[in-house]
Amino acid sequence: MRSLNVRLGARSYPIHIGPGLLTQAELILPHLRTPRVAIVSNETVAPLYLDKLAAPLRAAGVQVTEIILPDGEAHKNWETLNRIFDQLLAERCDRSTTLIALGGGVIGDLTGFAAASYQRGVPFIQVPTTLLAQVDSSVGGKTGINHPRGKNMIGAFWQPQLVLADTDTLQTLPARELSAGLAEVIKYGLIRDLPFLAWLEAQMDALLACDGSALAQAIERSCQNKAEVVAADELETAKEGGRALLNLGHTFGHAIETGLGYGQWLHGEAVAAGMVMAAELSHRLGWLDAAAVARLSQLLQRAALPVRGAALGAERYLELMGHDKKVIAGKLRLVLLRQLGEAVTYGEAPREEIIAAIEACCD
Ligand code: NAD
Ligand code: GLY
Repeated sequence: MRSLNVRLGARSYPIHIGPGLLTQAELILPHLRTPRVAIVSNETVAPLYLDKLAAPLRAAGVQVTEIILPDGEAHKNWETLNRIFDQLLAERCDRSTTLIALGGGVIGDLTGFAAASYQRGVPFIQVPTTLLAQVDSSVGGKTGINHPRGKNMIGAFWQPQLVLADTDTLQTLPARELSAGLAEVIKYGLIRDLPFLAWLEAQMDALLACDGSALAQAIERSCQNKAEVVAADELETAKEGGRALLNLGHTFGHAIETGLGYGQWLHGEAVAAGMVMAAELSHRLGWLDAAAVARLSQLLQRAALPVRGAALGAERYLELMGHDKKVIAGKLRLVLLRQLGEAVTYGEAPREEIIAAIEACCD
């Protein structure tokens, strides 16, 4: 087992990464206030993993409530959130009940937001089962739901007590979902870790073959990067750079997800195409050379990810991007690349260059 810490003072917490962690109740027990948990999962993940997690907890004397939600990004909304509250109240879960998110980023974001607001806040634990959730969404405390007008527009910062990333769960993950997770892994290399980018180029075949050792290394390095960024700027308030850099490609990508309807493109796929758009714009601003843009595109393509955006039309992209959380006082602040391994936030990109970059990257 590999372990690291997210250093946030009194709210610091460990991330454990490795095979067979799901059944190790002893990793969870010290983090419970009382022997009472509600495990939130979905119709796909629960049949695969819920018993593995719940049985050892029950054997240790923990009372377990199971909350099974419908699967999919289209369900990351108020209605589904309310189903969590309905069941927590029906089963008289109190303020010391720990919520456990068992699933991908959708379950993690929903459960975290439920934990942030149920009875004004209860503890929660992340047990991520997708690569994307193990390298990104389970770490850092961003929780929330989508609004029809914008992705992740309603939510809260609420840190978990523990992240338990069982790498065995990735063996059942569909190939398309593995690739979507690789988009966020590649992101860390692009924004702040050039040696990791080179490592990913060397290890891409092993990662796609679901090699346990390569995956564990990639998850650990990704979590290290994320933990450092979050520790330095937990609430994303830095005027420049900071946590916002984790959103490379996301402003373009969120426009694809919202524009096409949630669930059409996977989040990681939209981020991949969005990172190419951000790279293209960085090139047009004279920062990245053409070879660097090609290097990034090639790596994403090797990871079986899209490198061209959805054909929404540049004006629609701009309209949707105007709803992004990266808009401050009406100004669109984009995450761009000064060079591979160095991202910056930038609010001065000319509108015509943004349009040109979008058009160059869409059919
Ligand atoms: P997801 O949660 O929809 O999971 C992808 C699919 O895989 C689902 O159908 C799920 O049921 C299935 N699945 C999960 N684990 C499985 C397993 N082990 N075996 C088989 N199937 C499995 O998608 P995701 O990519 O994990 O997460 C995307 C979401 O995360 C988006 O809503 C995005 O906005 C959010 N996100 C949040 C943050 C954050 O910091 N909070 C960061 C990045 C992304
Ligand atoms: N995924 C972006 C963040 O956690 O800040």
